[in-house]
Amino acid sequence: METQIGIVGAGPAGLMLGLLLERHGIDSVILETRDRQYVEQRVRAGVLEQNTVDLMHELEVGDRLEREGLEHHGINLRHLGETHYVPMTELTGRSITVYGQQEVVKDLVAARLKGRASLLFEVSDVALHDIDSGRPRISFVHDGSEHELACDFVAGCDGFHGICRSAISPEVLTELEYTYPFAWLGILAEAAPATEELIYAWHEHGFALYSMRSPQVSRLYLQVAADEDLAAWSEDRIWNELELRLGHVNTGPIFEKGITPMRSFVVSPLQHGRLFLCGDAAHIVPPTGAKGLNLAVNDARLLAAALHDRFESGDEARLEAYSRTALRRVWRAQDFSNYMTQLLHNLGGGAFEHGLQVSRLEYIARSESAARSLAENYVGLPAASDF
Ligand code: APR
Ligand code: PHB
Repeated sequence: METQIGIVGAGPAGLMLGLLLERHGIDSVILETRDRQYVEQRVRAGVLEQNTVDLMHELEVGDRLEREGLEHHGINLRHLGETHYVPMTELTGRSITVYGQQEVVKDLVAARLKGRASLLFEVSDVALHDIDSGRPRISFVHDGSEHELACDFVAGCDGFHGICRSAISPEVLTELEYTYPFAWLGILAEAAPATEELIYAWHEHGFALYSMRSPQVSRLYLQVAADEDLAAWSEDRIWNELELRLGHVNTGPIFEKGITPMRSFVVSPLQHGRLFLCGDAAHIVPPTGAKGLNLAVNDARLLAAALHDRFESGDEARLEAYSRTALRRVWRAQDFSNYMTQLLHNLGGGAFEHGLQVSRLEYIARSESAARSLAENYVGLPAASDF
């Protein structure tokens, strides 16, 4: 087997890259270890920056997003029972859209399977070979037989637990990691959201977030201990704690619950030889800034444009700059996600820490410059900007 770009992983990064390449007339094969149903059902975040929404429309995969996505123009910051509204669209001219990541994945998988390009689910034993050479290969097992895929380039889009990152020798790869001493307990419930806009709440028990997926489904989160036992949280306990931290919430049957660790992680460079890393394979942000999915999509956008130059005219300038360019936005998102996390969580720092948090929240409420800075990071700096 051979192709121009071997893509490992069918999450948002790999699928978006595949679709962008297809539109440029560049051939690719996507290899995914899980089955189609698993990747389409896996519950993840759900905030799309305007950049991501615009790209879905450009690629003609935005029809369902247009119908079912919930456009938002601001966020609420809540502290000691008071809520302050940050009018993002008024401050930036841009908006965000709530649409579950698994819905994005469904739309991208459907588009991929409509064309002739290949997407193989349930592959195993994926290994990279000769990424330093001009003809890297990916070996894998599919339908019980061994295969080898020869490529011009390999895109490692296989998420945080994938194998591509480890194909880069530790001598050239720098890994920076910070693990927060708390986690998020997240639920999906059949309950109409009691708020129009998202609520990010500071509470002495810890952070809470009121989000949604549709007019009938709420998505809510609570800051809990890093080693929290999910079994210790009955439905009653979850609702009581949400009500305490967020004010009035509408309750209903909980049909999904899970605990997400909170970490910041960045590798550099994102390239070695003919291997390029995209998305969670290369970086993780804590979910407080809602940036993970959008960063994965941004990497795919940059890599696709660089590969297009390379195949169209032999110009490798953007390919060589990929790691540097993508990491600029990754670091902006790391800083913003860290800022939002520090602003709103109980970090265990007592009264001094709370004093700083109160001052930052008041600054956002009183200074238009502070509010605009938060808003422009939250909605996402324009794709064409230098970040
Ligand atoms: N071979 C092939 N596929 C693999 C392998 C492997 N060895 N290892 C992992 N995968 C697959 C996973 O099963 C998954 O479907 O790679 C895919 C990676 O997808 P994601 O984890 O969704 O990562 P990415 O596409 O970078 O999207 C990032 O996901 O975690 C969220 O908040 C994050 O929204 C962000 C998004
Ligand atoms: C979500 O709806 O899942 C969500 C919203 C905002 C965040 C994180 C997650 O910051």
